[in-house]
Amino acid sequence: MKHDAIAVIDFGGQYAHLIATRVRDLKVLAEIRQPEDPIEMFRGYKGLIISGSPSLSAFGEDSAYTTAIYDLPVPILGFCFGHQEIAKHYGGKIIHGGREWGHTNLEITAESPVFKGLAPVEQVWMSHFDTVAEIGPDFREIGCSRLGADGEIHRYAAIDAPKLRRYGVQFHPEVDDTIHGGTMIANFVFDICGCRPTWTMGNYIDAQVAKIRERVGSGSVFLLASGGVDSTVTAVLLGRALGPDRLHLLHVDNGLMRKDESRSVLAAFQAMGLGRNLHFIDASDDFLGALAGVIEPEKKRRIIGDIFIRVFEREARRLGIEGHLLGQGTIYPDTIETGGTKRADTIKTHHNRVPIVEEMIRQGRVIEPLADLYKVEVRELGELLGLDKDLIWKHPFPGPGLGVRLLCSNGVPDRKEFERMAPAVRRIASKYGLAGDVLPIRSVGVKADLRSYEHPVMLSGEAGWEALFEAAGTIFREVEGINRCLWNLGPGRPAAFVPVAATVTRPRLDLLREADHLATESLRCHGIYYDIWQCPICLVPLSIDGKGSEMVVVRPVHSERAMTAAPARLPEAVLKDLRECILALPGVSGLAVDITSKPPGTIEWE
Ligand code: XMP
Repeated sequence: MKHDAIAVIDFGGQYAHLIATRVRDLKVLAEIRQPEDPIEMFRGYKGLIISGSPSLSAFGEDSAYTTAIYDLPVPILGFCFGHQEIAKHYGGKIIHGGREWGHTNLEITAESPVFKGLAPVEQVWMSHFDTVAEIGPDFREIGCSRLGADGEIHRYAAIDAPKLRRYGVQFHPEVDDTIHGGTMIANFVFDICGCRPTWTMGNYIDAQVAKIRERVGSGSVFLLASGGVDSTVTAVLLGRALGPDRLHLLHVDNGLMRKDESRSVLAAFQAMGLGRNLHFIDASDDFLGALAGVIEPEKKRRIIGDIFIRVFEREARRLGIEGHLLGQGTIYPDTIETGGTKRADTIKTHHNRVPIVEEMIRQGRVIEPLADLYKVEVRELGELLGLDKDLIWKHPFPGPGLGVRLLCSNGVPDRKEFERMAPAVRRIASKYGLAGDVLPIRSVGVKADLRSYEHPVMLSGEAGWEALFEAAGTIFREVEGINRCLWNLGPGRPAAFVPVAATVTRPRLDLLREADHLATESLRCHGIYYDIWQCPICLVPLSIDGKGSEMVVVRPVHSERAMTAAPARLPEAVLKDLRECILALPGVSGLAVDITSKPPGTIEWE
């Protein structure tokens, strides 16, 4: 079946993928195209959407792209940067300035098919520095924007050229804060481009099964099966396409798994009928040996990724199946956050995008049937493939496992800019009746699509979730160098935070495993496990008792695609459990809950 499709031109950041997801939600295929792809790659689509960009200005050298798209006889819609590019291409003028950020009112000034079914004033979400100041002769204004009833009017917030079938909006219809953004996208996709809604997960299965068969031919696939949602759905999909004989599964215990995880993963694969060629290897010595003494997070990630491949190759040789393709459960965010697309900066290296794997991909030795999907879509696919609900809705667990949740340190306090940060943090915290301490360690975060490696702040005191979140937001806005905020669950404000020298060792991993187990059980026991998207538990080498015991951080988040996340509020009963169980663990002296949104903090600490 040939589907009607929309190309989303990816000018960077996360916008294009969100737009693609929105289009796919309408059951219309959306494919990501790079701006400099040859014009042939843009043919055959029913319409194009040009995305916004986190860094580009319509003036930038970087904004060179395949402008021959404007000669294609299909409708084109631009958002933000895309809107400015369309205006510019057809004789309009863009100026620096006129910045708008956040919720804004769009006043619709002319009837346009893009705005069919909308109210005269709509709430939209803006994030731009440059502005369309003039439009070309074929264009007209269809909306202007205004912040508040008496606010200044921004012209050309939405424009169209009905004869040319070109449309542009300065705001972002793809984000939830643009209340009827979905209607605008649907108007474009269905009414303007005439797409039919045939792209469903059911059809996706059929298409992927055919693709896998074509790609693998008479060969076989050897899949690294961690037991997470992605690799399990991949396994079932590959199993459906190739049959259990031509699919070898390898589950590796890397020593960085959760408590009892490997045992239950193996049992689950057996139960799904994929036990025929199921291999298990305890490679914890390989991993922990290679990680010994390593502190830097990116280095740890690389090592874990490399050892996975080394173990995989060794096992393949041992089993005599080294010619098989390597299967991976890679999903879209894994590639974008490693800088997989041309304009996305590296935020961190995912374990399935380390250089060895990149090389194997170049050689055509890797198969990744979920690489275009987001987690929500993978879960929908899993449901259609008949996977157990518990398995589908289990919290995502990263490939490098507890390796990215076990922070390491050389024990030297990292206090480089403390003088500047500490007073500002204290002042803001006190406004909310809290104490605020900058911690002398750093964790990974993401700011404006770039990786950050900055300090967390710990807030102590009782203020309520709302005030805590607000205090955190103010600190992120006003104090440069902070990307994470914690709320202290310990018995009082610590007198000192002393970094302890700590690396990846079995006893530390066992302690983290236990804390992780206790926290997860508490979420299950109080019926909130499935309300929370993911809840990493981290062991942070900071001692507050002067005896070298470490701190545990609980990181509950709500999210949809892991691209952004909001901190989850934990009920009193869970907080009580955590305090009672985790603070009682020998070797733990502090406990905190992470109240950081993404951005500026990532979900994981490393
Ligand atoms: P961050 O920390 O970037 O994580 O907000 C987003 C999501 O990705 C997961 N994650 C990984 N998953 N391999 C994986 O399979 C990795 O290397 C990796 N790093 C982060 C993380 O758990 C969250 O769900």
